Amino acid sequence: MQEKINQLVDEAVNEIESIENLNDLMLLKSKYLGKKSEFNQFMRELKNLSNEEKPKVGQMINLAKNKINNHIQEKKEAIEKAKINEQLAQETVDISLPGKKISLGKKHILTQTIEEIEDIFIGLGYQIKEGPEQEEDKYNFEMLNLPKNHPARDMQDSLYISEDTLLRTHTSPVQVRTLLENEKKEPVKIIAPGTVYRKDDDDQTHSHQFKQVEVLVVDKETSLADLKGTLLIAAKKLFGEEREIRLRPSYFPFTEPSVEVDVSCYQCHGKGCSMCKNTGWIEVLGAGMVNNNVLEACGYDPHEFQGFAIGFGVERIAMLKHGIDDIRQLYTNDLRFNSQF
Ligand code: PHE
Repeated sequence: MQEKINQLVDEAVNEIESIENLNDLMLLKSKYLGKKSEFNQFMRELKNLSNEEKPKVGQMINLAKNKINNHIQEKKEAIEKAKINEQLAQETVDISLPGKKISLGKKHILTQTIEEIEDIFIGLGYQIKEGPEQEEDKYNFEMLNLPKNHPARDMQDSLYISEDTLLRTHTSPVQVRTLLENEKKEPVKIIAPGTVYRKDDDDQTHSHQFKQVEVLVVDKETSLADLKGTLLIAAKKLFGEEREIRLRPSYFPFTEPSVEVDVSCYQCHGKGCSMCKNTGWIEVLGAGMVNNNVLEACGYDPHEFQGFAIGFGVERIAMLKHGIDDIRQLYTNDLRFNSQF
């Protein structure tokens, strides 16, 4: 009997070794250790043995069954481990594989231009101010030395909401708001970017809605020379280090004297071309010394304080810098256009 048992154990161990999946292993388990197995048959035959042999053989059978069971258990763990390893290998991420490119959006050219102007003035110690787009007539006009019925109001066709409120026609009301707000009447040095509105028909150079950046300095010894120096720095930063500027007399009710500012042509370097209409100069913006009436209306003593103001037209600067010939292109949201900048 012992030989038979040993033979059976060898047979079982061999079979277990060759098995590769859990299902087959379970079948094998019932074949060798189940109710219908040969070992069970041996157990049933025990009763035919002598009392002396019974426990010996019984123990032998149990040892054999344990041995087989241990082998099955080991095999089971080995199969499970192999399965996990295989799964891990399948799920490994190949970090050397090139990824899919996600295309990032970018800022609109007008936003870029505003930020460029902001950066220049932040670098010069200015603070950024904002004002409402729906503005009171008194801030948009009256306190800027443009009383009701003043003919210069015609310079800016306005969109009125009620008799006293309108969509601001320029960012200059932020000058008034800033000066009024300053209760101690201290010097101010601000820029105010924002959207403005005019009752204009849209065409190649006009839009009923556009962007400005207002600059305002009020201090005790502010002169036209400070304005000129500031304009020169801004022109060089925006249009290139070699640029020169030229001031021409102009008129705005809220500045006196007022100037129109030209930048030397960056295309022909002053020789004359189509860009500068053969003059060598390109008109870029309006500016001037803050009118005494404005200072007074805002509670600043004009004998003590002077100031200057600059009005950047953002679209104009962007169009000049990037050779855009139709202002309407800036508002079409056409990605083919927008993504060029
Ligand atoms: N507010 C003026 C306009 O929109 C521009 C400007 C601002 C002129 C500041 C001089 C000083 O036409």
